[in-house]
Amino acid sequence: MPEAQGPTGSTDVFEIMHTTRAMRRLKPDPIPDELIFKILAAGQKAASGGNTQRWRFLVLKDPAKKKAVQVYYKKAFDEVVGPRYDNSPPPPGQSAESYRRTRAANQYLTDHYHEAPVWIVACLEGANPGRSVGASIYPAVQNMLLAARALGLGATLTTRHLQYEKETEAAMGIPPGFHSYAILPIGYPIGRFGPVGRGPLSEVVYLDDWGKPYPGLE
Ligand SMILES: Cc1cc2nc3c(=O)[nH]c(=O)nc-3n(C[C@H](O)[C@H](O)[C@H](O)COP(=O)(O)O)c2cc1C
Repeated sequence: MPEAQGPTGSTDVFEIMHTTRAMRRLKPDPIPDELIFKILAAGQKAASGGNTQRWRFLVLKDPAKKKAVQVYYKKAFDEVVGPRYDNSPPPPGQSAESYRRTRAANQYLTDHYHEAPVWIVACLEGANPGRSVGASIYPAVQNMLLAARALGLGATLTTRHLQYEKETEAAMGIPPGFHSYAILPIGYPIGRFGPVGRGPLSEVVYLDDWGKPYPGLE
């Protein structure tokens, strides 16, 4: 179990899960390799179907490679994500004001994506990315997000580069036979960790029959 690192670190798993939110404003300061190693080790402890472990974790610090991907990440924001924010209502549990702040944070990460000192690109071997295949990499991704949070580091699960999958995977040097599933830009956070915003649990949980409430659940 990693030691808590500094005032924002924690080792209480429930506190970590409740406060692991997308941290999109990051300092460009370098991160000690020792912390990156802990995050990677946490990722590799995750389950994969049949324990096949067909994952590869490409750690990118190379400014030129990150910048080459950021160009497409921004293009996808300008073409799709920005307009979607402008034309859709806030998700459950989020006020209009908080949604506006999320859009601003998204824009910030888009502009500074390549400045995060470390990216972990979660990849899998195999030519057919899909839902059941992805189930063998996203547990590792979540483990790494939780580990980063426990160490007081900010990170975000990002997949937007997949809108330009061929171009970005070529820019990162991912060879044929492998695909990327997420890029985690990691750095020391500029802002503070805080509780995640979600809708009421009782609205998404059923007991025995679809649509039947689970008594006592808030
Ligand atoms: C499949 C998936 C893809 C995501 N892709 C991006 C992304 O490309 N860029 C980004 O800024 N956030 C991305 N996110 C982060 C979500 O937008 C974020 O986790 C969600 O809005 C909830 O916010 P919170 O984590 O701060 O509670 C992604 C999350 C998931 C699960």
